[in-house]
Amino acid sequence: MVLKDSRGDQDIMAKKVLVAYYSWSGTTKRLAQQINSQVPGSTIFEIKVPDNTFSNDMNKTSDISKRQLANNDLPEVVEQVEKLNDYDLVLVGGPVWSGAISTPVMSFLNDIQGFSGQVAPVYTDAGSYDGYEASFKKSAGKLDVIKGFEGHQDLNAWLEQVTR
Ligand SMILES: Cc1cc2nc3c(=O)[nH]c(=O)nc-3n(C[C@H](O)[C@H](O)[C@H](O)COP(=O)(O)O)c2cc1C
Repeated sequence: MVLKDSRGDQDIMAKKVLVAYYSWSGTTKRLAQQINSQVPGSTIFEIKVPDNTFSNDMNKTSDISKRQLANNDLPEVVEQVEKLNDYDLVLVGGPVWSGAISTPVMSFLNDIQGFSGQVAPVYTDAGSYDGYEASFKKSAGKLDVIKGFEGHQDLNAWLEQVTR
């Protein structure tokens, strides 16, 4: 899309953005929907795992995800993004689980290793998230990871930086 920059004297190309998210209890989903509505031309994609992979109970879900990690048995993502390389930037949303990325987000990052554009973590939490971006980078392999967004920060300022 061709836009004018803030001075109006130069045409710039806005990035084509995919907002992919995994959400166990709805918070990251709401943030992803907000981003989707604020980024013109963006597409939203839900990272889904098979029903009954996790529990409705938080502690049980935590145990299940720890077991997946210990056994190197990550959940399968049931649908793939179409024409991934049409995008310039993929925002990868997910909750903080035990200070790190959730196992569905880990699976998604494995699935998109062939993507040649930029990737940015977007994450929600209950206040304890220090290791999240480092864990995301570690799981991102050869993907080009840029600065992420934690759910309580200034969304508009971050979107302004990363989407143009
Ligand atoms: C298994 C599990 C582990 C969690 N671990 C953390 C954590 O380490 N730090 C934190 O701040 N919140 C933690 N939370 C809370 C979630 O990160 C937070 O509620 C998040 O916004 C939920 O997003 P969602 O509704 O998209 O799943 C955890 C939640 C679950 C279910």
